[in-house]
Amino acid sequence: MLRFTILLSAAFAILAPLVPLSAQMATITVLDGPDSTVISRHIYGHFAEHLGRSIYGGFYVGEGNDSIANVDGLRSDVIEALRRLQIPNLRWPGGCFADTYHWRDGVGPRDERPTMVNTNWGGVTEDNSFGTHNFLQLCDLLDTEPYLAANIGSGTVQELADWVQYVNYPGTSPMSDDRRRNGRAEPWGVRYWGVGNEAWGCGGNMRVEYYADLYRRYATYMSGAGLDGGLYRVAAGATDGDYHWTEVLMRDVPHHLMQGISLHHYSVIDWSGKGPAVGFDESQYMTTMQRSWAMEEMVTKHSAVMDVYDPAKKVGLIVDEWGGWYDVEPGTNPGFLYQQNTMRDAMIAGMNLNIFNNHADRVHMANLAQAVNVLQAVILTEGNQLVLTPTYHVMEMYKVHQDATRVPIRVESPEYAHGGETLPAISASASRATDGTLHVSVVNIDYAKAHMVTITLPQNYVRVSGRVLRSERMQDYNGFGEPGRIEPE
Ligand code: AHR
Repeated sequence: MLRFTILLSAAFAILAPLVPLSAQMATITVLDGPDSTVISRHIYGHFAEHLGRSIYGGFYVGEGNDSIANVDGLRSDVIEALRRLQIPNLRWPGGCFADTYHWRDGVGPRDERPTMVNTNWGGVTEDNSFGTHNFLQLCDLLDTEPYLAANIGSGTVQELADWVQYVNYPGTSPMSDDRRRNGRAEPWGVRYWGVGNEAWGCGGNMRVEYYADLYRRYATYMSGAGLDGGLYRVAAGATDGDYHWTEVLMRDVPHHLMQGISLHHYSVIDWSGKGPAVGFDESQYMTTMQRSWAMEEMVTKHSAVMDVYDPAKKVGLIVDEWGGWYDVEPGTNPGFLYQQNTMRDAMIAGMNLNIFNNHADRVHMANLAQAVNVLQAVILTEGNQLVLTPTYHVMEMYKVHQDATRVPIRVESPEYAHGGETLPAISASASRATDGTLHVSVVNIDYAKAHMVTITLPQNYVRVSGRVLRSERMQDYNGFGEPGRIEPE
């Protein structure tokens, strides 16, 4: 047995402000009990919606752009940065946008593509210059799996069946012939499909009982022909603590039609007053942490509902939207959801990834909202400049857990207290890589105190090392003028 004590860490990913030390010790005991659960790499997924400067200006700068390096219009610096994260999947084209999107408008000759109005996000004109072929080429360049979100709110069953055939069918068919005419001979073999998005809201304002029937109908005509293992179809799931929604889907949709159910939960202070992304005070910080920590309860309770109908845990809980959501940066379009990203966001990221790792038996996928220039982004761009946010660095530090075997741990934490509220200061998760390396990730969310952490390991190791991400203040961020201010040490 190896036992060691260090300030805040014994890990390869530690988040900590540089602040005074607390008297109370945190302990993390790594247990040697068997756990065969693999932490799916898909927990480390991302999301790109036609929203603000996510696609246009973020991922895509237009073919022939000679001021920003690109491959067929796809931004090279963004691709390179995301490849370093080894992102396992990318969800597209929404979000709310998905239920207004008609995929045929985005294929074929550009000058013949119709325009549409992006009614959800700023009412801007969408010219459909970025469509299915561009997105799937982007995924190829990123070496990541596409996760397509289909239009159930305003699209037809036939439209969805045709999209599946267009991207996946290898033989001769009306859709695959069209694909070939549009320049792509081989099918892409897209496995992950969202069947609608937020059907309780922007995806159609449906009751779950109605959506469950609709889901059965749409899913029936999505053919997995030509794809090894078939499609992985994700039903549009609950928001936050709506356990009734999950219950009805689990009860009323045959499980052979539904491989996953989504869950959306944002760490938002209050929908009517989200507060600033940077100039927040400690009360706002505490509330954000409470909203973030609520993910633990939601995942636990949605999983418990699912366990009743699926004790073998075959249907995945897919947290395909999570992250911090604040007021937009002053002077930016309120419909574009552009926000800065501070150490507070790093805390949200580490805490949520620990939760997902610890629930990896049920959480099979998760998607941070969103990858570039929107909400809790890992990358921000301005013209030809690019900044990696603190959240990016957390994702990079945590990538060691992708497809590793979960290791059970017991955490005893001092409390982080503010304004009469308390939360555990320390959260953690652990996994073992195939070469035997043990990775322990530890987060200290305390606004004001450093904590001593003792980690007890079940055996001796020949080498122990750690990386830490920290800064003087929770409000610190990587700005365009100082892009390297916060980096792992
Ligand atoms: O991520 C931004 C939006 O948040 C998505 O479009 C929607 O699904 C959610 O409400």
